[in-house]
Amino acid sequence: MPDATTTMHLDKGLDNTVIGESTKSFIDGQQGVLEYVGIDIDDLARHSTFEEVVFLLWNDRLPTSEELAAFESELRAEYGLSDYMLQALAAIPADASPMHVVRTMVSTLALEDPDCNDQSYESERRKAVRALAKTPAIIAGFDRIRRGLEVVEERSDLNMASNFLWMLNGEMPGEASARAIDVCLILHADHGINASTFAAMVTIATQSDMYSSLTSAIGTLRGPLHGGANERVMHMLQSIGGIDEVEPFVMDCLTNKKKIMGFGHRVYKALDPRAKYLKTFAERIAEETGNRDLFVLSTTIQDVMDREVGAKGIHPNVDFYSATTYFSLGLAIDLFTPVFAMSRNAGWAAHTLEQHQDNRLIRPRCQYTGEHGASYVPIDQR
Ligand code: ACO
Repeated sequence: MPDATTTMHLDKGLDNTVIGESTKSFIDGQQGVLEYVGIDIDDLARHSTFEEVVFLLWNDRLPTSEELAAFESELRAEYGLSDYMLQALAAIPADASPMHVVRTMVSTLALEDPDCNDQSYESERRKAVRALAKTPAIIAGFDRIRRGLEVVEERSDLNMASNFLWMLNGEMPGEASARAIDVCLILHADHGINASTFAAMVTIATQSDMYSSLTSAIGTLRGPLHGGANERVMHMLQSIGGIDEVEPFVMDCLTNKKKIMGFGHRVYKALDPRAKYLKTFAERIAEETGNRDLFVLSTTIQDVMDREVGAKGIHPNVDFYSATTYFSLGLAIDLFTPVFAMSRNAGWAAHTLEQHQDNRLIRPRCQYTGEHGASYVPIDQR
Protein backbone atom coordinates (compact mmCIF):
# COMPACT_ATOMS: atom_id res chain seq x y z
CA MET A 1 0.00 0.00 0.00
CA PRO A 2 1.58 3.39 -0.96
CA ASP A 3 2.54 5.27 2.17
CA ALA A 4 3.98 8.80 1.84
CA THR A 5 5.26 8.71 5.43
CA THR A 6 7.87 6.02 4.66
CA THR A 7 9.93 8.62 2.78
CA MET A 8 9.59 11.18 5.59
CA HIS A 9 12.14 11.70 8.34
CA LEU A 10 11.05 9.80 11.47
CA ASP A 11 12.01 11.63 14.67
CA LYS A 12 10.56 9.91 17.72
CA GLY A 13 10.37 12.41 20.60
CA LEU A 14 11.06 15.25 18.08
CA ASP A 15 14.65 15.51 19.40
CA ASN A 16 15.92 16.77 16.04
CA THR A 17 12.94 18.73 14.75
CA VAL A 18 12.73 22.52 14.75
CA ILE A 19 9.02 23.31 14.68
CA GLY A 20 9.17 27.05 14.09
CA GLU A 21 10.85 30.35 14.89
CA SER A 22 10.61 32.20 18.19
CA THR A 23 12.05 35.35 19.76
CA LYS A 24 11.29 34.30 23.36
CA SER A 25 14.08 32.19 24.78
CA PHE A 26 17.44 30.89 23.62
CA ILE A 27 19.04 27.76 25.05
CA ASP A 28 22.61 26.57 24.45
CA GLY A 29 22.53 23.08 25.93
CA GLN A 30 26.26 22.49 25.43
CA GLN A 31 27.41 25.64 27.22
CA GLY A 32 24.54 25.81 29.74
CA VAL A 33 23.15 29.17 28.60
CA LEU A 34 19.56 30.42 28.85
CA GLU A 35 18.43 33.84 27.67
CA TYR A 36 14.97 35.41 27.64
CA VAL A 37 14.75 37.75 24.61
CA GLY A 38 18.55 37.86 24.56
CA ILE A 39 19.08 38.65 28.26
CA ASP A 40 21.01 36.11 30.32
CA ILE A 41 18.90 34.35 32.95
CA ASP A 42 21.48 35.11 35.62
CA ASP A 43 21.18 38.83 34.93
CA LEU A 44 17.39 38.64 35.15
CA ALA A 45 17.46 36.57 38.35
CA ARG A 46 19.76 39.12 40.00
CA HIS A 47 18.18 42.35 38.83
CA SER A 48 14.65 41.84 37.51
CA THR A 49 11.21 40.97 38.87
CA PHE A 50 8.72 38.39 37.66
CA GLU A 51 6.33 41.05 36.37
CA GLU A 52 9.11 42.70 34.36
CA VAL A 53 10.12 39.32 32.91
CA VAL A 54 6.52 38.64 31.83
CA PHE A 55 6.43 42.02 30.07
CA LEU A 56 9.74 41.16 28.40
CA LEU A 57 8.47 37.79 27.17
CA TRP A 58 5.18 39.19 25.88
CA ASN A 59 6.63 42.32 24.24
CA ASP A 60 10.16 41.26 23.28
CA ARG A 61 11.66 44.22 25.18
CA LEU A 62 12.06 45.55 28.71
CA PRO A 63 9.39 48.03 29.85
CA THR A 64 9.90 51.67 30.81
CA SER A 65 8.98 52.38 34.44
CA GLU A 66 5.57 53.76 33.33
CA GLU A 67 4.88 50.66 31.23
CA LEU A 68 5.89 48.36 34.08
CA ALA A 69 3.65 50.21 36.54
CA ALA A 70 0.72 50.01 34.09
CA PHE A 71 1.31 46.28 33.53
CA GLU A 72 1.53 45.61 37.27
CA SER A 73 -1.77 47.47 37.79
CA GLU A 74 -3.39 45.43 35.03
CA LEU A 75 -2.28 42.20 36.73
CA ARG A 76 -3.21 43.35 40.25
CA ALA A 77 -6.74 44.25 39.13
CA GLU A 78 -7.16 40.57 38.19
CA TYR A 79 -5.70 38.91 41.34
CA GLY A 80 -9.08 38.00 42.88
CA LEU A 81 -11.48 35.11 42.22
CA SER A 82 -15.21 35.59 41.57
CA ASP A 83 -17.82 34.00 43.84
CA TYR A 84 -18.42 31.48 41.09
CA MET A 85 -14.72 30.47 41.08
CA LEU A 86 -14.60 30.31 44.88
CA GLN A 87 -17.69 28.08 44.96
CA ALA A 88 -16.16 25.85 42.29
CA LEU A 89 -12.94 25.61 44.36
CA ALA A 90 -14.89 24.75 47.50
CA ALA A 91 -16.71 21.94 45.64
CA ILE A 92 -13.44 20.15 44.83
CA PRO A 93 -12.62 17.15 47.07
CA ALA A 94 -10.01 18.15 49.65
CA ASP A 95 -7.78 15.22 48.70
CA ALA A 96 -7.60 16.21 45.02
CA SER A 97 -4.11 16.66 43.64
CA PRO A 98 -3.40 20.41 43.28
CA MET A 99 -2.18 20.09 39.68
CA HIS A 100 -5.56 18.63 38.70
CA VAL A 101 -7.16 21.53 40.57
CA VAL A 102 -5.07 24.16 38.77
CA ARG A 103 -5.77 22.56 35.38
CA THR A 104 -9.51 22.42 36.08
CA MET A 105 -9.78 25.92 37.50
CA VAL A 106 -7.77 27.63 34.74
CA SER A 107 -10.12 25.91 32.32
CA THR A 108 -13.08 27.09 34.42
CA LEU A 109 -11.98 30.73 33.95
CA ALA A 110 -13.31 30.44 30.38
CA LEU A 111 -16.84 29.75 31.62
CA GLU A 112 -17.22 33.19 33.16
CA ASP A 113 -15.41 35.11 30.42
CA PRO A 114 -17.92 36.68 28.00
CA ASP A 115 -15.11 37.03 25.44
CA CYS A 116 -13.97 33.43 25.61
CA ASN A 117 -14.79 32.93 21.92
CA ASP A 118 -13.29 36.24 20.79
CA GLN A 119 -10.12 35.15 19.04
CA SER A 120 -8.53 38.53 18.47
CA TYR A 121 -4.95 39.03 19.68
CA GLU A 122 -6.13 41.59 22.26
CA SER A 123 -8.69 39.19 23.67
CA GLU A 124 -6.20 36.30 23.88
CA ARG A 125 -3.70 38.58 25.63
CA ARG A 126 -6.36 39.69 28.11
CA LYS A 127 -7.19 36.05 28.85
CA ALA A 128 -3.48 35.45 29.49
CA VAL A 129 -3.44 38.33 32.00
CA ARG A 130 -6.48 36.87 33.81
CA ALA A 131 -5.04 33.36 33.99
CA LEU A 132 -1.59 34.55 35.07
CA ALA A 133 -2.95 36.89 37.74
CA LYS A 134 -5.52 34.43 39.14
CA THR A 135 -3.47 31.21 39.27
CA PRO A 136 -1.86 32.19 42.63
CA ALA A 137 -5.35 32.67 44.13
CA ILE A 138 -6.43 29.28 42.75
CA ILE A 139 -3.44 27.50 44.34
CA ALA A 140 -3.58 29.37 47.65
CA GLY A 141 -7.39 29.20 47.85
CA PHE A 142 -7.49 25.44 47.32
CA ASP A 143 -4.68 24.86 49.80
CA ARG A 144 -6.47 26.87 52.50
CA ILE A 145 -9.84 25.24 51.86
CA ARG A 146 -8.33 21.74 52.12
CA ARG A 147 -6.66 22.75 55.39
CA GLY A 148 -10.04 23.91 56.73
CA LEU A 149 -8.97 27.57 56.73
CA GLU A 150 -10.69 30.71 55.44
CA VAL A 151 -9.68 31.88 51.97
CA VAL A 152 -7.52 34.99 52.30
CA GLU A 153 -8.49 37.96 50.15
CA GLU A 154 -5.89 39.16 47.65
CA ARG A 155 -3.83 42.32 48.23
CA SER A 156 -3.47 44.48 45.17
CA ASP A 157 -0.70 46.51 46.82
CA LEU A 158 1.63 43.49 46.60
CA ASN A 159 3.58 41.97 43.72
CA MET A 160 2.63 38.48 42.53
CA ALA A 161 5.18 36.64 44.67
CA SER A 162 4.25 38.44 47.92
CA ASN A 163 0.53 38.28 47.19
CA PHE A 164 0.80 34.51 46.65
CA LEU A 165 2.53 33.96 50.01
CA TRP A 166 0.06 36.31 51.68
CA MET A 167 -2.95 34.41 50.31
CA LEU A 168 -1.34 31.07 51.17
CA ASN A 169 -0.29 31.83 54.75
CA GLY A 170 -2.54 34.73 55.77
CA GLU A 171 0.46 36.71 56.96
CA MET A 172 2.90 39.09 55.31
CA PRO A 173 5.94 37.19 54.02
CA GLY A 174 9.43 38.23 55.03
CA GLU A 175 11.44 40.09 52.41
CA ALA A 176 13.80 37.15 51.82
CA SER A 177 10.99 34.61 51.28
CA ALA A 178 9.10 36.92 48.93
CA ARG A 179 12.23 37.59 46.89
CA ALA A 180 13.04 33.85 46.81
CA ILE A 181 9.63 33.08 45.28
CA ASP A 182 10.00 36.02 42.89
CA VAL A 183 13.35 34.67 41.65
CA CYS A 184 11.95 31.14 41.32
CA LEU A 185 9.12 32.57 39.20
CA ILE A 186 11.70 34.35 37.00
CA LEU A 187 13.78 31.18 36.57
CA HIS A 188 10.77 29.03 35.58
CA ALA A 189 9.02 31.56 33.32
CA ASP A 190 10.07 30.24 29.92
CA HIS A 191 12.20 27.55 28.34
CA GLY A 192 11.85 27.34 24.56
CA ILE A 193 9.56 24.72 23.09
CA ASN A 194 9.50 22.29 26.00
CA ALA A 195 6.77 19.63 26.19
CA SER A 196 4.11 21.78 27.88
CA THR A 197 4.78 24.83 25.69
CA PHE A 198 4.51 22.61 22.63
CA ALA A 199 1.14 21.36 23.93
CA ALA A 200 -0.02 24.98 24.31
CA MET A 201 1.12 25.81 20.76
CA VAL A 202 -0.57 22.75 19.24
CA THR A 203 -3.80 23.85 20.92
CA ILE A 204 -3.78 27.50 19.79
CA ALA A 205 -2.70 26.42 16.30
CA THR A 206 -6.17 24.91 15.76
CA GLN A 207 -7.54 28.45 16.39
CA SER A 208 -8.74 27.36 19.81
CA ASP A 209 -8.24 29.85 22.68
CA MET A 210 -5.80 30.88 25.42
CA TYR A 211 -7.65 29.04 28.22
CA SER A 212 -7.57 25.82 26.20
CA SER A 213 -3.85 26.30 25.47
CA LEU A 214 -3.00 26.86 29.12
CA THR A 215 -5.15 23.90 30.17
CA SER A 216 -3.30 21.60 27.72
CA ALA A 217 0.01 22.93 28.98
CA ILE A 218 -0.79 22.43 32.67
CA GLY A 219 -1.83 18.84 32.02
CA THR A 220 1.46 18.27 30.21
CA LEU A 221 3.62 19.95 32.85
CA ARG A 222 2.42 17.67 35.64
CA GLY A 223 4.16 14.54 34.29
CA PRO A 224 7.21 13.37 36.29
CA LEU A 225 9.46 13.58 33.20
CA HIS A 226 8.65 17.32 33.06
CA GLY A 227 7.57 19.74 35.83
CA GLY A 228 6.26 16.99 38.08
CA ALA A 229 9.86 16.01 38.80
CA ASN A 230 10.28 18.66 41.53
CA GLU A 231 7.77 16.88 43.79
CA ARG A 232 9.39 13.51 43.04
CA VAL A 233 12.77 14.98 44.02
CA MET A 234 11.42 15.88 47.43
CA HIS A 235 9.89 12.44 47.98
CA MET A 236 13.21 10.91 46.94
CA LEU A 237 15.17 13.09 49.41
CA GLN A 238 12.75 12.13 52.18
CA SER A 239 13.06 8.44 51.35
CA ILE A 240 16.85 8.46 51.75
CA GLY A 241 17.58 7.94 55.43
CA GLY A 242 20.83 9.95 55.63
CA ILE A 243 24.13 10.81 53.97
CA ASP A 244 25.46 7.25 54.35
CA GLU A 245 22.56 5.93 52.31
CA VAL A 246 23.13 8.23 49.33
CA GLU A 247 25.87 6.18 47.64
CA PRO A 248 23.99 2.82 47.76
CA PHE A 249 20.73 4.53 46.75
CA VAL A 250 22.21 6.23 43.68
CA MET A 251 24.25 3.18 42.65
CA ASP A 252 21.19 0.95 42.95
CA CYS A 253 19.16 3.30 40.74
CA LEU A 254 21.88 3.54 38.12
CA THR A 255 22.49 -0.23 38.09
CA ASN A 256 18.79 -0.90 37.67
CA LYS A 257 18.29 1.90 35.12
CA LYS A 258 15.99 3.86 37.41
CA LYS A 259 16.01 7.62 36.83
CA ILE A 260 17.19 9.92 39.62
CA MET A 261 14.59 12.67 39.65
CA GLY A 262 15.87 16.19 39.02
CA PHE A 263 18.78 15.00 36.83
CA GLY A 264 19.15 14.95 33.08
CA HIS A 265 17.62 17.10 30.38
CA ARG A 266 16.69 16.67 26.75
CA VAL A 267 18.56 19.86 25.75
CA TYR A 268 21.16 20.59 28.45
CA LYS A 269 24.25 18.44 28.41
CA ALA A 270 26.07 21.03 30.55
CA LEU A 271 24.73 22.15 33.94
CA ASP A 272 21.27 23.74 33.64
CA PRO A 273 21.98 27.46 34.32
CA ARG A 274 18.82 27.67 36.42
CA ALA A 275 20.03 24.81 38.64
CA LYS A 276 23.31 26.65 39.22
CA TYR A 277 21.40 29.64 40.52
CA LEU A 278 18.87 27.60 42.50
CA LYS A 279 21.67 25.68 44.21
CA THR A 280 23.02 28.90 45.73
CA PHE A 281 19.53 29.86 46.73
CA ALA A 282 18.71 26.46 48.19
CA GLU A 283 21.84 26.59 50.34
CA ARG A 284 21.06 30.03 51.74
CA ILE A 285 17.40 29.36 52.46
CA ALA A 286 18.00 25.86 53.82
CA GLU A 287 20.63 27.34 56.16
CA GLU A 288 18.28 30.10 57.35
CA THR A 289 15.36 27.73 57.92
CA GLY A 290 17.19 24.89 59.65
CA ASN A 291 17.13 22.57 56.61
CA ARG A 292 20.88 22.33 56.05
CA ASP A 293 20.74 18.49 56.19
CA LEU A 294 18.46 18.49 53.18
CA PHE A 295 20.87 20.66 51.22
CA VAL A 296 23.86 18.49 52.16
CA LEU A 297 21.91 15.37 51.14
CA SER A 298 21.21 17.01 47.76
CA THR A 299 24.83 17.98 47.13
CA THR A 300 25.96 14.49 48.10
CA ILE A 301 23.59 13.02 45.48
CA GLN A 302 25.01 15.49 42.97
CA ASP A 303 28.61 14.45 43.86
CA VAL A 304 27.86 10.76 43.24
CA MET A 305 25.92 11.54 40.03
CA ASP A 306 28.76 13.80 38.76
CA ARG A 307 31.26 11.03 39.37
CA GLU A 308 29.13 8.29 37.78
CA VAL A 309 27.25 9.95 34.90
CA GLY A 310 28.49 13.57 34.71
CA ALA A 311 30.62 12.67 31.67
CA LYS A 312 27.42 11.52 29.88
CA GLY A 313 26.00 15.04 30.32
CA ILE A 314 23.60 14.14 33.13
CA HIS A 315 23.54 17.02 35.62
CA PRO A 316 20.95 18.56 37.99
CA ASN A 317 18.10 20.29 36.16
CA VAL A 318 15.84 23.14 37.35
CA ASP A 319 13.74 20.76 39.46
CA PHE A 320 16.54 19.38 41.64
CA TYR A 321 17.40 22.39 43.80
CA SER A 322 14.01 24.07 43.45
CA ALA A 323 12.64 21.20 45.57
CA THR A 324 14.91 22.05 48.53
CA THR A 325 14.17 25.75 48.07
CA TYR A 326 10.38 25.32 48.09
CA PHE A 327 10.48 22.86 50.98
CA SER A 328 12.63 25.21 53.05
CA LEU A 329 10.16 28.01 52.31
CA GLY A 330 7.44 25.88 53.90
CA LEU A 331 5.46 25.01 50.76
CA ALA A 332 3.53 21.73 50.81
CA ILE A 333 5.24 19.26 48.49
CA ASP A 334 2.24 18.90 46.20
CA LEU A 335 2.29 22.68 45.59
CA PHE A 336 5.77 22.60 44.01
CA THR A 337 4.54 21.83 40.49
CA PRO A 338 1.57 24.26 40.76
CA VAL A 339 4.08 27.02 41.61
CA PHE A 340 6.03 26.02 38.50
CA ALA A 341 2.76 26.33 36.51
CA MET A 342 2.06 29.72 38.11
CA SER A 343 5.31 30.97 36.60
CA ARG A 344 5.27 29.07 33.30
CA ASN A 345 1.87 30.62 32.48
CA ALA A 346 4.07 33.51 31.34
CA GLY A 347 6.02 31.45 28.81
CA TRP A 348 3.00 29.43 27.67
CA ALA A 349 1.13 32.65 26.96
CA ALA A 350 4.16 34.22 25.23
CA HIS A 351 4.47 31.30 22.81
CA THR A 352 0.70 31.00 22.37
CA LEU A 353 0.48 34.69 21.41
CA GLU A 354 3.49 34.30 19.11
CA GLN A 355 1.85 31.30 17.40
CA HIS A 356 -1.46 33.19 17.18
CA GLN A 357 0.25 36.00 15.25
CA ASP A 358 1.85 33.72 12.67
CA ASN A 359 -0.19 30.56 12.73
CA ARG A 360 0.05 27.27 10.92
CA LEU A 361 -1.87 24.20 12.06
CA ILE A 362 0.59 21.83 13.76
CA ARG A 363 -0.15 18.41 12.36
CA PRO A 364 2.71 15.89 12.23
CA ARG A 365 2.42 12.39 10.79
CA CYS A 366 3.25 8.94 12.08
CA GLN A 367 4.37 5.87 10.18
CA TYR A 368 1.66 3.23 10.22
CA THR A 369 3.11 -0.17 11.14
CA GLY A 370 -0.11 -2.18 11.40
CA GLU A 371 -1.91 -4.49 8.98
CA HIS A 372 -3.71 -3.55 5.75
CA GLY A 373 -6.86 -5.11 4.30
CA ALA A 374 -7.93 -6.80 7.53
CA SER A 375 -11.53 -8.01 7.42
CA TYR A 376 -14.22 -7.04 9.88
CA VAL A 377 -15.12 -10.13 11.96
CA PRO A 378 -18.62 -10.05 13.49
CA ILE A 379 -18.52 -9.99 17.28
CA ASP A 380 -20.06 -13.47 17.73
CA GLN A 381 -17.34 -15.02 15.56
CA ARG A 382 -14.29 -13.59 17.39
N1 ACO B 1 18.98 9.43 36.19
C1 ACO B 1 19.72 8.42 35.70
N2 ACO B 1 20.00 8.26 34.40
C2 ACO B 1 19.50 9.15 33.54
C3 ACO B 1 18.72 10.22 33.98
C4 ACO B 1 18.46 10.36 35.36
N3 ACO B 1 17.70 11.35 35.85
N4 ACO B 1 18.34 10.95 32.91
C5 ACO B 1 18.85 10.36 31.85
N5 ACO B 1 19.54 9.26 32.22
C6 ACO B 1 20.25 8.32 31.32
C7 ACO B 1 19.26 7.31 30.72
O1 ACO B 1 19.13 6.17 31.54
C8 ACO B 1 19.91 7.01 29.40
O2 ACO B 1 20.99 6.13 29.64
P1 ACO B 1 21.45 5.05 28.51
O3 ACO B 1 21.92 5.87 27.34
O4 ACO B 1 22.51 4.29 29.20
O5 ACO B 1 20.21 4.25 28.20
C9 ACO B 1 20.50 8.37 28.97
O6 ACO B 1 20.74 9.07 30.21
C10 ACO B 1 19.56 9.20 28.10
O7 ACO B 1 18.31 9.31 28.80
P2 ACO B 1 16.92 9.57 28.08
O8 ACO B 1 15.84 9.37 29.08
O9 ACO B 1 16.81 8.80 26.80
O10 ACO B 1 17.10 11.07 27.66
P3 ACO B 1 15.93 12.09 27.40
O11 ACO B 1 16.49 13.20 26.61
O12 ACO B 1 14.71 11.43 26.88
O13 ACO B 1 15.64 12.49 28.92
C11 ACO B 1 14.62 13.44 30.75
C12 ACO B 1 15.36 13.70 29.43
C13 ACO B 1 13.24 12.85 30.42
C14 ACO B 1 14.44 14.77 31.46
C15 ACO B 1 15.42 12.45 31.64
O14 ACO B 1 16.72 12.95 31.89
C16 ACO B 1 14.69 12.12 32.94
O15 ACO B 1 13.79 11.27 32.93
N6 ACO B 1 15.07 12.80 34.08
C17 ACO B 1 14.41 12.58 35.34
C18 ACO B 1 13.10 13.38 35.40
C19 ACO B 1 13.32 14.88 35.53
O16 ACO B 1 14.13 15.34 36.31
N7 ACO B 1 12.56 15.63 34.70
C20 ACO B 1 12.62 17.10 34.74
C21 ACO B 1 13.27 17.63 33.49
S1 ACO B 1 13.41 19.38 33.54
C22 ACO B 1 11.85 19.93 33.21
O17 ACO B 1 11.10 19.32 32.48
C23 ACO B 1 11.39 21.12 33.84
